[in-house]
Amino acid sequence: MAESLFIPTEASKEEKYGAILPQIEALISGEKDLIANLANISAVLKESFGFFWVGFYLVKDNQLVLGPFQGPIACTRINLGKGVCGTAWKENKTQLVPDVDAFPGHIACSSASKSEIVLPFSSNGEVAGVLDIDSDKLADFDETDQVYLEKLISILEKTM
Ligand code: SME
Repeated sequence: MAESLFIPTEASKEEKYGAILPQIEALISGEKDLIANLANISAVLKESFGFFWVGFYLVKDNQLVLGPFQGPIACTRINLGKGVCGTAWKENKTQLVPDVDAFPGHIACSSASKSEIVLPFSSNGEVAGVLDIDSDKLADFDETDQVYLEKLISILEKTM
């Protein structure tokens, strides 16, 4: 396992994602423990992009329960179909939300959160959890984030 990350500075978003995805793959591919891998992925994303909040919720007993994350304290449980995370789980589909106040039922863990992207991941054909990233800026995520984060989800799913 590499001891430190190489994160290009002064680089475009594409270049940063391009640089960190192989490093994430190297970091998690030899490790089967899901919590360890989710913790490291949260750390890499936080260190690379400085996101306001980045972390995971895991499906447990028919709820999403807070998992490894980086950032301020967050809501611990989310029901199916509730908020952006519960919607990503229910629809098994990435949710790209430029303005959280315009998303019906958005769960405000922090009033500082302005935009959000949530991606589900699966194990054995069922959604096992979601990756949630929040920004304190409006419309901070776009299709580029979606494309690269979906690649990250594929890398994660291969370890599960
Ligand atoms: N805003 C999310 C809840 C989780 S926090 O943002 C960390 C939602 O609406 O599902």
